[in-house]
Amino acid sequence: MIVLGIESSCDDAAAAVIETNRPGVAIVRANAIAGQDDIHRPYGGVVPELASRNHILTIEPVVQRALAVAGCQLSDIDGIAVTRGPGLVGSLLVGLMYAKGLSQATGIPLVGVNHLEGHLLAPLLENELTMPYLALVVSGGHTALFEVQAFGRYRRLGATRDDAAGEAFDKVAKLMGLGYPGGKIIDELARRGNPKRIRLPRARVKRAPLDFSFSGLKTAVALFLRSEGAPSTSESDLAASFQEAVVDMLVRPTIAAARELDAETIVLTGGVAANSRLRERLSAAAAADGRRLVAPSFKYCTDNAAMIAIAGSYRLLRGEADPLSIDAQANLPL
Ligand code: KG4
Ligand code: ZN
Repeated sequence: MIVLGIESSCDDAAAAVIETNRPGVAIVRANAIAGQDDIHRPYGGVVPELASRNHILTIEPVVQRALAVAGCQLSDIDGIAVTRGPGLVGSLLVGLMYAKGLSQATGIPLVGVNHLEGHLLAPLLENELTMPYLALVVSGGHTALFEVQAFGRYRRLGATRDDAAGEAFDKVAKLMGLGYPGGKIIDELARRGNPKRIRLPRARVKRAPLDFSFSGLKTAVALFLRSEGAPSTSESDLAASFQEAVVDMLVRPTIAAARELDAETIVLTGGVAANSRLRERLSAAAAADGRRLVAPSFKYCTDNAAMIAIAGSYRLLRGEADPLSIDAQANLPL
């Protein structure tokens, strides 16, 4: 079966073509993406109206590019998988309406996919994993722990109560005047800094040990920047101290959840999974506990359509399809 995946939930318009004959086992034939970092950079964050307007311009070319790279015609496609939520509703609508139009015009079956399910199944694009496994999804929009029990069966163990981890990276980079998106910049700066230089809080959520909270840390950095000590502190020390606090707050609940489930495999996914310190610390903590850390390649950690295609294909393989009346849903639950 050849599946076309389409994703436009935030600021990336993406299309991918995968080949699959068994749930969770796929060959990626094309994985195209049209990013918008340059468009949102002046604002230090994603501007929803600009995101959806630009998706309108790029969705058709990005799908055509994926088909061309895969060496496919539309007539070769057996199913379409498209993100229907959660995300920015204006952004979601562009990909969803485009996919519905394709399906209506060609008769190719369509399935709507939850974006988070895409992140959770992304490691299967490169690895054979046995379920259940534990997954930490950390991106600009999400920070959550899930038990992936089977295709279509996911249990949320904990999530952020306020900011997502990537959002904290981006906001702190903005406070420090470093540019956008901030995660990668802070990661690189932090390599030269001392993570113990500035004492920053590590929040814990009362009676919810698997939940996260990052807004207090962001405020602590803002207050520090206004304090007397700030001018004498190097940027790299502040970046390293902030990053270490985020990593501590991600590693502790993840290891606690892994012990609770006695999970053999921990999956780390989402844009923040690119963070070098997080990868290093989580993989050491997992190994010390006799567990294995699996993190997809960066192109499958960040938003992409290959993960949407693989998440939709187990339903398409069963012969399922969604009606063309499916809606985009900003807060679509998993
Ligand atoms: O998954 P993604 O591409 O989009 C969302 O669904 O949000 O994630 C983007 C987020 C941004 O907040 C970005 O700053 C963060 O991932 N990020 C990083 C790194 N690379 C990207 N955060 C920390 N360290 C990095 N190396
Ligand atoms: Zn995402």
